Amino acid sequence: MSDSTGHSECGTSAAPIPFPEKLRELWSIFRMRLADLSRPASAEGILADVAEYDAVLRQYAGRGLAGAKAFEVGFGARPLRLFALAAWGADVTGSDLDVPLIHGSPREFAAMMRRNGVERAVKSALRFAFFDLKERHDLKKLLRARGLEMKVEPQRLIVADAAALPIPEGSLDLIYSEDVFEHIPADAIGVLTAKMARWLKPSGLALIRPNVFPGIVGGHLAEWFPQVVNDRNRRRRSEPWEHLRRRRFRPNTYLNELSRASYRELFAPNFEILEERVKDPGLGRAYLTAEVAGELNEWPEEELFSNQTLFVLRPRRA
Ligand SMILES: C[S@@+](CC[C@H](N)C(=O)[O-])C[C@H]1O[C@@H](n2cnc3c(N)ncnc32)[C@H](O)[C@@H]1O
Repeated sequence: MSDSTGHSECGTSAAPIPFPEKLRELWSIFRMRLADLSRPASAEGILADVAEYDAVLRQYAGRGLAGAKAFEVGFGARPLRLFALAAWGADVTGSDLDVPLIHGSPREFAAMMRRNGVERAVKSALRFAFFDLKERHDLKKLLRARGLEMKVEPQRLIVADAAALPIPEGSLDLIYSEDVFEHIPADAIGVLTAKMARWLKPSGLALIRPNVFPGIVGGHLAEWFPQVVNDRNRRRRSEPWEHLRRRRFRPNTYLNELSRASYRELFAPNFEILEERVKDPGLGRAYLTAEVAGELNEWPEEELFSNQTLFVLRPRRA
């Protein structure tokens, strides 16, 4: 689930942590989302991402999103970014390991239970009832203000591992992904990125934005989600960069724990890295006191303040 910063709390969301911990994480997320209801922050974040893709494509590929053939790796439980790209004029499809909840019908819910298990299905149903329709409505309104019409088109969504898809070589202008790569094991990223480089046209781009582990939000604890990081009065059990320091609590999701430097190494064999853009470069700066910095002295600041970093990637020629 993305907020105005594009941060997701969805997906790969059945880590084997104790049940009370799970409930605590889910309750924190629910409260955050309730607080967000009064402002279209999430929809604005999605639109900002799409506008960014359009601008980056123009800068490096000499074309915009209109008419571009695009693919999203991991559209999540609410594929709004993908529908926004389609409204922008892209011919876009995407895949996710999990079934999305589009209409909120009992049939969808049953399919979700079968494929994703009870926990994900119940979470998605609650989110659908409380938040998703409002967010969809907000996004439609924002797009309409730009003269664009968003349609909900489930045929664009494939439920599968992206690496298993038979996408023709040299067929795509753009591959994009938000808050997904940190949930994929490093060796599987190697396999996927080799395929991605082949799927892209020589002029194509991959825009991949993982949530880098050493950042203050990289541990994926709800107490440190981007929308609450700057709330210094918030009562928390965990400390800033808890995941690099004490490691007392585990997130409700699988994480590969890769650093920004590790992503560079994983992308390098198949892609030239044209640019790295940190979404919110100062996020968490106020928590890096002398004492905390002392404990984290093995980590360069570049890593501690990476969080969501967009890698702009051009496929290397064979
Ligand atoms: C945290 S969610 C992010 C979803 C969405 N991008 C967003 O920003 O809301 C991560 C998603 O990645 C999906 N995912 C992980 N590995 C994948 C793979 N190999 N192929 C397709 N989807 C994958 C998960 O199923 C999950 O829905």
